[in-house]
Amino acid sequence: MRDSRETFVNHAFVTGYPVKHSRSPLIHGHWLKQFGIAGSYRAHEVTPEAFPDFMRRLKDGSSGFCGGNVTIPHKEAAFRLSDRPDELSTELGAANTLWLEDGEICATNTDGRGFVANLDERAKDWDRIGTAVILGAGGASRAVIQAIRDRGVKAIHVVNRTPERAQELADRFGAAVHAHPLAALAEVMSGAGLFVNTTSLGMDGEPAPAIDFSPLARNAVVTDIVYVPLKTPLLRQAEEQGFLIVDGLGMLLHQAVPGFEKWFGRRPAVDETLRQIIISDM
Ligand code: ATR
Repeated sequence: MRDSRETFVNHAFVTGYPVKHSRSPLIHGHWLKQFGIAGSYRAHEVTPEAFPDFMRRLKDGSSGFCGGNVTIPHKEAAFRLSDRPDELSTELGAANTLWLEDGEICATNTDGRGFVANLDERAKDWDRIGTAVILGAGGASRAVIQAIRDRGVKAIHVVNRTPERAQELADRFGAAVHAHPLAALAEVMSGAGLFVNTTSLGMDGEPAPAIDFSPLARNAVVTDIVYVPLKTPLLRQAEEQGFLIVDGLGMLLHQAVPGFEKWFGRRPAVDETLRQIIISDM
């Protein structure tokens, strides 16, 4: 849209319910300042009941936004209510990034790309692994499975407290993905090169269970998608046991890149300054 000086000024949002915990305004605010772009990015809380109307106003231009990010609990509705969801978001049934094109709402999901970019940066050759173990079978797990499968990981073992949810993912993603109950964890870890925690295990008031990571391959990478605290109870244990650990903050930062590029036309970098900005806000 145009401001009083007849120049384009783009305004983007992050919406969720609640949304005040979101670090996305800090990330995009940093990049806007870095590029000297006269745009804005702000948190905009929308209840599930009001979300369809929010999407309608995004589409007809009356909200004043050119696009934005969508977080819990709106990711599925954002996908459903978008006009042009891409392949990634269609397979996941969930979108986290929206933008307008020719008066239509386009949608994608950048969580998996963020996950992979974080590993690429911090654990070179992580994708030469034989097998991966994913703990948890929620929405985040789904995005991680899609991304590492697309990267060519041939065997992905999903271990979950509720085995039926792991089985749903195995059915959805096909031959590369196998479902297991929590009791099978030690067995499926044997020789695996990547361990991913997508659960809040050890952070929901209960003490963290002791996990013996020694069955993993000696050069295995252990990572967590949770980034508060930066070193989760699981990562701490894995590090103590001598494994390379990768925290989840980089996933958050990298997942933001494609959106910024869509709304503001510049491709931002994920650098140490940005990381420190988020860490000092924790
Ligand atoms: P998200 O979309 O962030 O992945 P989610 O859909 O609520 O969140 O999924 C949370 C995951 O963490 C699930 O795999 C959940 O296991 P269940 O499917 O059995 O519920 C897992 N999880 C959460 N707390 C857990 C705990 N204390 N022990 C084991 N698994 C836990």
